[in-house]
Order: sequence, then structure tokens, then C-alpha cells
Amino acid sequence: MAQFYPLRVTDIKRDTRDSVVLTLEPQPEDKDKFAFIQGQYLTFRRTFDGEELRRSYSICAGRKEGILRVGIKKVDGGWFSNFANDELKAGDILEAMKPAGNFHVPLDPSSARRYLGFAGGSGVTPFISIIKTTLAEEPLSEFTLVYGNRSAGAIMFREELEDLKNRHMGRFSVVHILETEAADIDLFSGRLDREKCEQLFDRWVDAGSADYAFICGPEPMMLAVADALKARGLAANKIKFELFASSQPGKARRPQERVAARADSVCKATIIMDGVAREVEIDKHGESVLEAAIAARLDAPFACKAGVCSTCRAKVIEGEVEMDQNYALEDYEVKRGYILTCQSHPVSDKLIVDYDQ
Ligand SMILES: Cc1cc2nc3c(=O)[nH]c(=O)nc-3n(C[C@H](O)[C@H](O)[C@H](O)COP(=O)(O)OP(=O)(O)OC[C@H]3O[C@@H](n4cnc5c(N)ncnc54)[C@H](O)[C@@H]3O)c2cc1C
Ligand code: FES
Repeated sequence: MAQFYPLRVTDIKRDTRDSVVLTLEPQPEDKDKFAFIQGQYLTFRRTFDGEELRRSYSICAGRKEGILRVGIKKVDGGWFSNFANDELKAGDILEAMKPAGNFHVPLDPSSARRYLGFAGGSGVTPFISIIKTTLAEEPLSEFTLVYGNRSAGAIMFREELEDLKNRHMGRFSVVHILETEAADIDLFSGRLDREKCEQLFDRWVDAGSADYAFICGPEPMMLAVADALKARGLAANKIKFELFASSQPGKARRPQERVAARADSVCKATIIMDGVAREVEIDKHGESVLEAAIAARLDAPFACKAGVCSTCRAKVIEGEVEMDQNYALEDYEVKRGYILTCQSHPVSDKLIVDYDQ
């Protein structure tokens, strides 16, 4: 069930001109539910103009730091991010689901690994959690963060990153790439694109010896960095992605085809949630599995509805679906039968989908 819990805002700090960092506190009885893995996010819900919106924000605290924080950057005209930056006050209550997400690798205190991180803009938030946790729990490992921003004023968590660098000299380094400001060394100005990666890998960052790389930022940046890393020999399964927003909106629901739907285009689906199985009929050319579940009054979990966050993940037990887009599930999850229900349309006549697995 998509259960939400109250979180009290205990502090709001302005981080840059257009971003804030919220410190949140669960009710004492919910504390364990908000234990998190580094790199995970919280999904909040709030009603704006009569419509419930859900938005995800990455946790930006170390796993054992004992605090829960998120950093929210204003998006032009955006509902939740403007509300958080301009209206939210300490003492207010927000509602959030338990932490979720897979933007991490399991840590091993005896490993001496080399990690690379590539962040663009607000994409740095999960790195605060990943870097702090990795440095604390893998004492032999090193982390290099390449962080692209438009200008120095837009750098989120600037002081905190400096502080981490000073506390972990030799184990943590950060390379700032600024678009609109000339740096003493050309290498550090411009966009974090393929060409910039090649220059960095030639002159500053040893991509070839990295064990894992994490990328979070605008989609074109993520694709360019991933291509550059692969060209230097890093295997695709060693590269972890977190996308905040897809540049391609989810495919429309194909309404004309839906009108023309024939009896043989109906899939008899069973949706399992909280141990209860519910039978629904889904037009193969119409709504997604998630929309069908919600229409059947099931409290199915979701957030972005754009194939980005994986909150709507479920497992296909029988039958087959086609996903419009998938930015969130890894290949191994898809092979095991996991789907993003917000992007999935049945192609078989029968389908069994389980949200509990
Ligand atoms: C897993 C995950 C983790 C995330 N973590 C963070 C985080 O830590 N910090 C953070 O600030 N954001 C984060 N986001 C993005 C966040 O969830 C919202 O998408 C963002 O704050 C915009 O929401 P909004 O309601 O303000 O804007 P909306 O009202 O949804 O959108 C307004 C307009 O902005 C566009 N838009 C939406 N999101 C973005 C975006 N991220 N960048 C550029 N344009 C966009 C939309 O297409 C629309 O045109 C995360 C997203 C995901 C999926
Ligand atoms: S709701 Fe975000 S991927 Fe489906």
C-alpha cells in the first residue's frame, strides 16, 4: 500500500538563492520506517489547487548521521519546489512515503574501491548521502565527485563539500565545472558534456581505474558521461544512474485506439497488493497497469508517473507487458520480471502483477 507518514519540518536552511535544505523528523513510532540506504529518496504528497501531487526528493544525509534531510531546488513554475522554497516553515508537517530507490552499491568495510560521481545542479543531493556514507563505512575507499553548475552561486552544498574534502584529505575530492564562469584552468569551465569528460579523463580524473560510477543530473549530461566512461572501459553494470526528470514526457494514452478497442484487446489482469488479489480488465491499447489499479480503487504506489522514480515497481508473475519507457529499473530487475506499472501496458490476454514482491 502507498502509505504516507507525517514528517515535521524541524529546520529550513537556504542553501543557494533558489534552493533550500529541509530537516525532517518522523513521529517517534515511525522512526524505524525512515531508516534509509545512502542515495535513496522520499516521495512527498501535497494537494495544490485541488489536485494531489507527488514529488520525490533525494535524502542528503549520511546513513548513520541520525538526521533526515532533503535539498529542494526551485524549478521555474514548479508546484512543489516553489512551495518548499517560498512557503514552507519550520514546524509544518509534510507527508512522505518510506525511503525508496536503488541509487547505491552495497558497501563492504574491507574494500578499497575507487568511486566516481558526476552531478549536475540539484543532482548533487543523493551524492551528499552516498559520499558521507561511503567515506564513513568503507574507510579504505576513495571518492571523486565531478560537479557541474551554471555558476558558482548555483553550487548546492558548497560548504559541506569543502568540509568533507578537508576532513577526508586524500580520500575525497571534488572537481567543479562551471558553465558561465571562466576558471584559471580551461578544463574547469564549460558544460559537463562528452568533450569535457574526455578532457577530464585525459588530464585529471582516472576513469579507467574506477570500480563504480554514479551519475545524476540532466538527461543529456548523464548520457554523455556514461558514454565517455564506457569508452574508457567501465562496464555498463558498474554505472549507476538517477534521473530526476525525463526530457521526454510519458507517451500519451493513445485515446483514439482506446475508442477502437475490440473485445480481444482486453486483458484479464489480477493485481496483488497487501496480500489481496483484485481482478481488473485492462484495455491493451489504453490505460497503464497503474491507472487500471487506481481505477479499481487499489492504493497502488506511484510518484513521477514518467518512468523515472520506480515507486510504482511491481513484479509480473504471469503474462507480458510492454513498457513505454524505463529510466529507473536496472536490466537485472527487468530480467527478473519487474516492471514500472505507470509505463506498462499488457500485451498478453492474461496478466498477474504483484506489488508485494
Ligand atoms: C528519484 C527522484 C529524486 C529527486 N530528487 C530531487 C532532489 O533531491 N532535489 C530536487 O530539487 N529535485 C529532485 N527531484 C525532482 C523533483 O521530484 C521534482 O520533479 C522537481 O522538484 C519539480 O517539481 P515541481 O512540482 O516543482 O515542478 P512541476 O510542477 O512538476 O513542473 C514544472 C515544470 O518543470 C519541469 N520539470 C519538472 N522537474 C524538473 C527538473 N527536475 N528539472 C527541470 N525541469 C523540471 C516540468 O516538465 C514542468 O514543465 C527528484 C526526482 C526524482 C524522480
Ligand atoms: S511512478 Fe515513477 S516510475 Fe512509475
